Amino acid sequence: MWRVKPLDQIIATTEKKALKRSLGAVQLTLLGIGAVIGTGIFVLTAAAAQKAGPGMMVSFIIAGAVCAVAALCYAELASMVPVAGSAYTYSYAVLGELVAWLVGWALILEYALGASAVAVGWSGFITGLFDHWGLHIPHALTVGPPVHWSFLSGGEAGGVFNLIAVIITALVTLLLIVGTRESATVNAVLVAVKVTALTAFVVLTLPMVFGHLDRFHPFAPRGWGNPLDGSGTGVLGAAASIFFAYVGFDAVSTAAEETKNPQRNVPIGLIGSLAICTVFYLLVASGVIGAWGAQPVKDAAGVFAEGATLQNSAACHVNDAPTVCSKEALAYILRKVGYPVVGDALGFAAAIALPSVVLLMMYGQTRIFFVMARDGLLPRRLSAVHSKFRTPWVITLVTGAIVALAAAFLPVSQLADYSNAGTLFAFAVVSVGVLVLRVSDPGRRRPFKTPLIWVVAPLSILGCIVLFISLNNESKLLFTGWSILGLVLYFAFGFWNSNVRRGVVEDVNLEGQGDGQAPA
Ligand code: ALA
Repeated sequence: MWRVKPLDQIIATTEKKALKRSLGAVQLTLLGIGAVIGTGIFVLTAAAAQKAGPGMMVSFIIAGAVCAVAALCYAELASMVPVAGSAYTYSYAVLGELVAWLVGWALILEYALGASAVAVGWSGFITGLFDHWGLHIPHALTVGPPVHWSFLSGGEAGGVFNLIAVIITALVTLLLIVGTRESATVNAVLVAVKVTALTAFVVLTLPMVFGHLDRFHPFAPRGWGNPLDGSGTGVLGAAASIFFAYVGFDAVSTAAEETKNPQRNVPIGLIGSLAICTVFYLLVASGVIGAWGAQPVKDAAGVFAEGATLQNSAACHVNDAPTVCSKEALAYILRKVGYPVVGDALGFAAAIALPSVVLLMMYGQTRIFFVMARDGLLPRRLSAVHSKFRTPWVITLVTGAIVALAAAFLPVSQLADYSNAGTLFAFAVVSVGVLVLRVSDPGRRRPFKTPLIWVVAPLSILGCIVLFISLNNESKLLFTGWSILGLVLYFAFGFWNSNVRRGVVEDVNLEGQGDGQAPA
């Protein structure tokens, strides 16, 4: 189980289908912004406010900083091993099969549940827009049912399942099966749409800050957060959740292979897109606080409301409900402060832009599953390629089913927290992997070398651990249960069927189809 997939073998596979180096710093930055801005800022800002109040501004900075150092580590491995499967593949080469399997298994949380979270976020905006236009979608079909199991709780009174989120997931699954990949042009247009929407929000709401400085007090009504109390609240708890708003930058790392002068352009693309997003997020958060306030609400018993209790609390069922109650916070606030048309336009912008984030995340998930199946760690049948569309259609359907199921029943903030648990684990392992490889194979060519690696990588590992333990107990328990299930499956299946164990060097049938495209 400690066997590694030799790096040279992995790289040899890619060299056969080397891509043209065409991306520059600007395109990379756009790619990063396109993958990053999504449900996090458009929807989860409300959840962050409930956890931290105005102190969420600090949460945005903490989460952005952890992402920046993790991104730099990610980029070094991505530039050395520029193949599909990202963190899973890097771990296989450096830390061995068992760790790789656990990372791949955790990436299912990151990508599949991340896609579910964005789909549920989308559903909030669509429901809000339709409502505002007088078309009422039955509440039962827009949220999951109330659930209060030991560590799984969520949903809302009156909910049955989130049909809207399931519809968008089904559409995206179909697009992926027929082979849709987002083009650079579509990405650039959607980046413009998202940035324009957020800019409009900032321009209209920021001036209100000056008349309402009182809304920044108390700044951290739920404290700075105690990672050990398991509540996942306070500034640190909100940072662990809002981390979701930055996920997706790995799109830049994985494009290293197609980048001109990667040593210069990859860090510009990564840090550039993260910096631009951080500045935007801080401005948006200030606008939210100044225009409508971001104080958390309490339930009837006088304690801060969480999850399902929040949506069901009396404080959320009044006219002019506080920010934290809204499922489409930014559009809601604009409508409330006298800009209903801009509010609708922002809702519309989110409605057209969020599906591309679902697409990118589901695409990532199908490729990771595909590589794991091709390596023999998952049933090989799953990696079947469609004869006409040349896409891994079986795995895409399986992914669609998982994403739809989770989106149908769970609320967005919970999905995002689960996704973060998987992502933080993967980032931490990648940061360890970079250090290990520096020691074990110092002479290997590194198209991009992380600056100050002995500072950056340990900071990244530490940041991921702190954010991970700052998540609520539910998410940590879910992650633990998920990993145990993964271990059981590995020893029942992957351990015995692994290509590396069987000495299979390359799966000839599927060679050249690792990205789901026809062989060159
Ligand atoms: N960062 C992405 C989003 O917020 C995943 O939707």
